[in-house]
Amino acid sequence: MYPSTRSDREQWITEAHYNLFNLKSQQVFIDLLTDSGTGAMSQEQWSALMSGDESYAGSKSFERLRETITSLTGFPYVLPTHQGRAAENVLFSVMVKEGHVVPGNAHFDTTKGHIEFRKASAFDCTIDAATDTSLYHPFKGNLDIGKLENVVQVYGKERIPLIIVTITCNSTGGQPVSMENLRAVREFADTHGIPVIFDSARFAENAYFIKVREKGYQNRSIREIIREMFSLADGMTMSSKKDGIVNMGGFIAMNSQALFREATTFNIMFEGYITYGGMSGRDMAALAQGLEEATTFGYLESRIKQVHYLGGLLREAGIPVQEPFGGHAIFVDATRFLPKVPCEEFIAQTLAIELYLESGVRAVEIGTLLADRDPDTRENRYPKLELLRLTIPRRVYTRTHMDYVAAALQNVYRRRNKITSGYKIRYEAPIMRHFTVELEKIT
Ligand SMILES: Cc1ncc(COP(=O)(O)O)c(C=O)c1O
Repeated sequence: MYPSTRSDREQWITEAHYNLFNLKSQQVFIDLLTDSGTGAMSQEQWSALMSGDESYAGSKSFERLRETITSLTGFPYVLPTHQGRAAENVLFSVMVKEGHVVPGNAHFDTTKGHIEFRKASAFDCTIDAATDTSLYHPFKGNLDIGKLENVVQVYGKERIPLIIVTITCNSTGGQPVSMENLRAVREFADTHGIPVIFDSARFAENAYFIKVREKGYQNRSIREIIREMFSLADGMTMSSKKDGIVNMGGFIAMNSQALFREATTFNIMFEGYITYGGMSGRDMAALAQGLEEATTFGYLESRIKQVHYLGGLLREAGIPVQEPFGGHAIFVDATRFLPKVPCEEFIAQTLAIELYLESGVRAVEIGTLLADRDPDTRENRYPKLELLRLTIPRRVYTRTHMDYVAAALQNVYRRRNKITSGYKIRYEAPIMRHFTVELEKIT
């Protein structure tokens, strides 16, 4: 919130056990931890909020939300949930069982968490180009159909309850998936009789990239592209905190009435009745309005161009970043930034701490801490990419804030050769450790 001194920040980060999630918001100057639920609602969303219908069953705010989702995606069945991971919990309670294998493109942490919690495994089938940050590929979220084929060969289609496609793919850098690739996944899934589910938190940003980067889509509207994308899936999970531009919320939508009926039971148990599922009527009203706004070209262009402005400043300064830039964040290649820090000492986390100490800017590690331990061997999993994510909340910060962030990171970059050691773990939870981990500085 307010500018602080380096010695304030040294004290606060020590008290936070070097985990940036443990910082209080008042100890942060510019908060780039996440774009999830941190956006600013528009005046139209605030006014929709005032018209919320709080009926337990059959609320008209739910009706508006359902109509909006169905008209955007084509899915007739909609279940609200309190956020994205709740949607995963409900859907996977129906679909994912012990021993199952769920292929996808760099599954998000909560997605993988919900799969592994059920003693199933997540299998990453992202194209290899995604892990070379200096290589240009317009759709680094794409799945490698050969890798999918291999999963089917090794495990058999009976053990694969679904293929999950994350649009855009958060963990590889907010990277989009092309329509051509979505079509190829659909064809592959049809051949083997496997359902396709989209993890859709940033589906509108994905549609923007298809429009501006994929041949044949320049003259198509964002909504037409979205409709075509979802025509290639059987269902979706959604964290509405991203492209719904609300502070809390999620949903599941699907084609199959049978799946909807099964999911309904879990939704009622875990979330709430089927026409509110963990959301209040006013929040559903604001979400319906947010979905309308997030799916316009003008909004998407200003949002994504702000993200790319920051990326451009970093690139000009010679800082290694994932290219091309994705939708919601700029991802700094921490391994190339801090080549002297060993990977066992959490390179991207070390960089996140250095940036905070330098400037009060809070970013987030997308690296070894997040990748967690292998559930069987309990060894650390070292991902191919160690990234620092600078995530831009929607409609919150100005260009001057971006200039400040770039200048701060440049200062750290200038002294990078002096940063030679990182951190070790003092405490960690058995699953999704990065949220609550406590670290100790290696001296
Ligand atoms: C791709 C993706 N899927 C799922 C989730 C989980 O959503 P939530 O934080 O609303 O539970 C997120 C959150 O960041 C995400 O980025």
